[in-house]
Amino acid sequence: MIKLAPSILAADFNRLGEQISIVEEAGANYLHIDVMDGNFVPSISFGMPVIASIRKKSKLIFDVHLMIEEPIRYLEVFKEAGADIITVHVEACQDLHKTLTQIKKLGLKAGVTLNPETSLERLGHVLGIVDMVLIMSVKPGFGGQSFLPETLDKIINLKKIAVQNGFNFDIEVDGGITKANVIDVLKAGANVIVSGTSVFGGNIKENVTDYQNIFAEF
Ligand code: DX5
Ligand code: ZN
Repeated sequence: MIKLAPSILAADFNRLGEQISIVEEAGANYLHIDVMDGNFVPSISFGMPVIASIRKKSKLIFDVHLMIEEPIRYLEVFKEAGADIITVHVEACQDLHKTLTQIKKLGLKAGVTLNPETSLERLGHVLGIVDMVLIMSVKPGFGGQSFLPETLDKIINLKKIAVQNGFNFDIEVDGGITKANVIDVLKAGANVIVSGTSVFGGNIKENVTDYQNIFAEF
């Protein structure tokens, strides 16, 4: 099943709870939550208190994308705040295998991700243990960037590796996805679609419905 993961980075934080209810009622599957530390990426977004607060009202699966250095230090607190899936960057972890194992030990789904310029080879030793691989289709750090077309080959290659080895992790893609290019991303092999600007910009309910219709027809 194809899943839509709206990224709240593009939401109006003055109406955050309300906008999350809209995506939830409209049929979003996950809520993509971008945590930035101003160190691994240049920008700072939000952290545990915001997640804990929105957790009280939402039943969506919280898909927490940690753009932070050495995330192993914070796994437990993100679980307590309400994370269901925690995704960490290969570039940010000294011991990636240990970090992912720790996420699983906490009873959460473990995701791994890599920057656009990082090769899939860096993930070789963990592909057998992860629940999700997130392919970044923009340089992490900011919403509203344009989709990098070279990402499509990376998704195709990852899907091939998964099929050849019998891995059944989800393939999530994040950054610059629009209603116009999402079909290419799905064709390449992705099954979890992150979208910030193209969900929260304009009519949120209509945007979620449009995406779900595109998925249903795919
Ligand atoms: C970028 C974030 C993305 C971003 C996506 O660092 O990881 O999740 O919010 O936003 P759009 O869909 O606007 O590119
Ligand atoms: Zn993200």
